[in-house]
Amino acid sequence: MFDTISSQASKLVKLTSGVKKNYSKTKLLTITSGKGGVGKSTITANMAFLLARRGFNVAVLDADIGLANMQVLFDLKPQNTLFEYINGIKTLDEVITKTVYENVSLIAGKSGYQYTSNKNSFLFSRIVKDLIALNRYDILLVDTGAGLNDYVREFLAVSDNILAITTTDPSALTDVYSLMKMLSLDKNKLMLCFNHTRTHQIGETIANSLVNLGKKNSLREDFMVEYIGNVSTSANISTTGRLRKLFVNEFSTDEITKQLQIIIDKILLNIH
Ligand SMILES: Nc1ncnc2c1ncn2[C@@H]1O[C@H](COP(=O)(O)OP(=O)(O)OP(=O)(O)O)[C@@H](O)[C@H]1O
Ligand SMILES: [Mg+2]
Repeated sequence: MFDTISSQASKLVKLTSGVKKNYSKTKLLTITSGKGGVGKSTITANMAFLLARRGFNVAVLDADIGLANMQVLFDLKPQNTLFEYINGIKTLDEVITKTVYENVSLIAGKSGYQYTSNKNSFLFSRIVKDLIALNRYDILLVDTGAGLNDYVREFLAVSDNILAITTTDPSALTDVYSLMKMLSLDKNKLMLCFNHTRTHQIGETIANSLVNLGKKNSLREDFMVEYIGNVSTSANISTTGRLRKLFVNEFSTDEITKQLQIIIDKILLNIH
């Protein structure tokens, strides 16, 4: 009798926790920056590898509409891209490409894709929802393009876990502040990572200045900016990128790989 009640109770717990998680185990993290060329795609690809090494099944979606390059970082020539899915020509499974790295899959974008006039249609981000509904991946990383255009906004709109990559360059910081302003209207939190930044402390100091600027300009008080770490500059990052290899795989004991591990620890604590 007790067994029956307890098994019913555990079924109920399973059911309700499923409802809470929207019936999917997949956690979504969207990576963005404002300013271009700050290292979003490089950091995303390397994080995907490290997350997979920790036992997570990871998918990376190249959401840089028009300037996709994630397939280059993973050294792939995918047959299909997210556009074939959006256009209804291919199924979701047909646009998912396995990378050479175990438990890392890529949904590639297409370079040179012409923008359509389908503004605010939520046409592109539908694939994010469908990938989550698949319930196959533990983590879905969405790498957006630069800027805050309609496409980037669309991908940000469907995500509650957002990571901004920036450098200490004043123009990059100005863009990140614009992003903070925009997200503070309807999100609760922004994670912040500083690339090309030698020490954790430098990033932390600048992150605090951004938070103080937000306070001065009356950004919503409960909007949080969480500084999650720094990545130093290394010629080996651009070299491995050019060779179409992943830095963290080639230099697994390097200081930068350790910095990225710290960033991943923080992300895992923060995403829901
Ligand atoms: N920490 C680093 N040290 C050295 N080179 C780096 C570092 N991070 C990124 N790079 C290099 O900077 C260049 C731009 O990086 P990446 O393409 O990842 O930026 P991005 O933000 O994705 O650019 P875009 O806005 O165009 O999408 C690449 O050549 C990459 O190898
Ligand atoms: Mg990029």
